[in-house]
Amino acid sequence: MRLRRFLLYPLALLLCLSAAAEDDTLEIVVGGRAQRFDRAALAARLPVHTVTIDDPDYDAPVTFDGFALRDVLALAGADGAHGDELVFGARDGYAPTVAYAAVQAHDAFVAFREHDNPEGFRPVRQGKALVSPAPYFLVWREGAALGPDFPWPYQLVRMEVIDFATRYAALYPADLAADTPARRGFDTFKLHCLRCHAINLQGGDLGPELNVPRNVTEYWTPDHLRGFIHDATAYHARSKMPSFRAVLDDAHLDDLLAYLGLMASRKVSVPTEAGP
Ligand code: HEC
Repeated sequence: MRLRRFLLYPLALLLCLSAAAEDDTLEIVVGGRAQRFDRAALAARLPVHTVTIDDPDYDAPVTFDGFALRDVLALAGADGAHGDELVFGARDGYAPTVAYAAVQAHDAFVAFREHDNPEGFRPVRQGKALVSPAPYFLVWREGAALGPDFPWPYQLVRMEVIDFATRYAALYPADLAADTPARRGFDTFKLHCLRCHAINLQGGDLGPELNVPRNVTEYWTPDHLRGFIHDATAYHARSKMPSFRAVLDDAHLDDLLAYLGLMASRKVSVPTEAGP
C-alpha cells in the first residue's frame, strides 16, 4: 500500500508535467473576444501547408508544416476591420507586434513542426540557451530577407488584433509630430524594444518595465544607457537582451533617449509595494 502510493505520486506528477509541456492551445483575441483552439481543432478546420523557408533562427532553409496565418485569423473572425496591428504572445512574455497590413501583404505560417521531424522542432538558440519553438512558431514565406520589421515569435501561444493607439495609449505619444526626436524614438522603441519591454505597464514582459515607478533615464546615465543598448552583455554577462550595435546608430540612440526621457514626465501610477 505504502509502496504503491510512493510509486503513484511521481507517476501522477510526471503525467501532469508532460500534459503541461504538450499544451498546444492557441488563444486568438479578436474584437476583445478570446477564442482557444488546440492543434487538433485547427487541423480539423484548416489546410496544412508544407513550406520551405530560409529561417533566420535556424539560419538555414527549413521545411515546416503549418497553418496559413491568414486562415487562422479568419477562423477567429478577424477581417481587418478589428484593428491595425497584430500582437503575438509567447510563453516567456515576448510580445512582438506587426502591422495588420503586413499580414495581408505577406504570407506567414503558424508552423507546428518541422516537416520530417517526428520530435516536432529542433531547438533554436535564444542568447546562450537552446529552446524549443513548440507549440507554434510564426514564420514568413519570404524568409530572413524580409528584414527586422517582421517578428518570428516561437513558443507562440496567443495572438490579438488590436488598435495600436488605443491598446498602447499609455506609451504612445500621439500628440507629437512625426518628425520630433521623441516621436522618432517611439517608432524605434515600437520596432525594437516593445516586444520585450513595457513602458507604463504596457508591452512585453521578457525584459524589465522601463518607466514606472522609476524611468531608466532617472538612474542610468545617458552614456551607460547608450553603451548598454548597444551591447547589454558588456554590462550583464549572459544578458538575454540582444545587441543593437549593428541596428541602431547614434542618431537612433539620441531619439530613443529623447522618448525614454519624455516618458519620465508621463508616468502612470502604480500601486506601491512594501519595501524590504
Ligand atoms: C529579446 C528581448 C529584449 C529586447 C528586444 C530588448 N531588451 Fe532590453 N532587456 C532585456 C532583458 C531580458 C533585460 C534584463 C537583463 C539585463 O539587464 O541584462 C533588459 C534590460 C534592459 C535595460 C536595463 C533596465 C534596468 O533597469 O537595468 C534597458 C535600459 C533596456 N533593456 C533597454 C532596451 C531598449 C532601449 C531596447 C530596444 C532598442 C531593448 N532593451 C530591447 C530584453 C530585451
